[in-house]
Amino acid sequence: MTTTRVRKAILPVAGLGTRVLPAVKAIPKEMLPIVDRPVIEYAVDEAREAGIEEFIFVTARGKASIEDHFDRAPALEATLEGRGRKAELESVRNSTLTDGNVTFTRQHTPRGLGHAVWCARHAVGDEPFGVILPDDLIQAPRPCLGQLIEAYERVGGNVVAAVDVPREHTNRYGVLDVTSDDGRLAAAKGMVEKPDPEHAPSTLSIIGRYVLDPAVMRQLDRQAPGRGDEIQLTDAIAATIGDVPLHGLRFDGRRFDCGNKAGYVEAILAFALEHPETADATRALLQTYAARRAS
Ligand code: UTP
Repeated sequence: MTTTRVRKAILPVAGLGTRVLPAVKAIPKEMLPIVDRPVIEYAVDEAREAGIEEFIFVTARGKASIEDHFDRAPALEATLEGRGRKAELESVRNSTLTDGNVTFTRQHTPRGLGHAVWCARHAVGDEPFGVILPDDLIQAPRPCLGQLIEAYERVGGNVVAAVDVPREHTNRYGVLDVTSDDGRLAAAKGMVEKPDPEHAPSTLSIIGRYVLDPAVMRQLDRQAPGRGDEIQLTDAIAATIGDVPLHGLRFDGRRFDCGNKAGYVEAILAFALEHPETADATRALLQTYAARRAS
């Protein structure tokens, strides 16, 4: 099918992060490290690998270090160069975004994810766009957003990343009302935000990756507050069903919710086990701790 290329991605980073306080009292939760890189850098790398050319961050007060992280660091780079620290220099340079390809806009009041996305409306314009919630860290053979874009190029409309969750957990997610499902891509006729298990239309739940039609942005212009008195992105997506198809993609990869303590710890372990400098030591540590528990 003929679709417009997805060139832009919104990264909403204006949330308060109350579930990981006090760690994020003075730093943004997106700057928490996973082994040797902050959470936000994994999200940006995923977007870059998915072919995204323009990065739109929706930030808030106290999030300035995110902006600095993706900027050049001339003094640090000069020092590393002078000392011949090539690998470190390369890692610092890799985290720089290209001039003109990055926009920072602010959400002045935390009125919900839908409102945060709407704050990026002028930077996005009238074209399809990706959304990455950096808290949802994904370890995948191919970038999750890239997998969504491939699906979008086949079916168009709105495509969201989806996972099957235990029924007792549906009240933590937006849940799809599925009409057809080939085991990987599911078409949906509706979506409910955090339904109680007994009222959930399915257990196929959406996580923090989206490819969205511009109709969603237009809907956000008039979207009323929903659950928690916040403007919900899921409500706006659901309101476009009928005009725009909605699909959930069971992507290839594992997702970690770094917005809560246990998910964050698990993400560190999973990435440490894959990192060449930490894999062996982490495996040995896990064995030591497992043996201690057993004894
Ligand atoms: P969360 O649901 O994790 O909320 O937001 P939160 O405020 O960040 O964290 P807790 O629940 O207090 O611990 C999901 C995503 O939406 C963004 C967050 O930055 C995160 O990427 N968000 C949420 C905003 O940008 N603005 C908002 O008003 C709410």
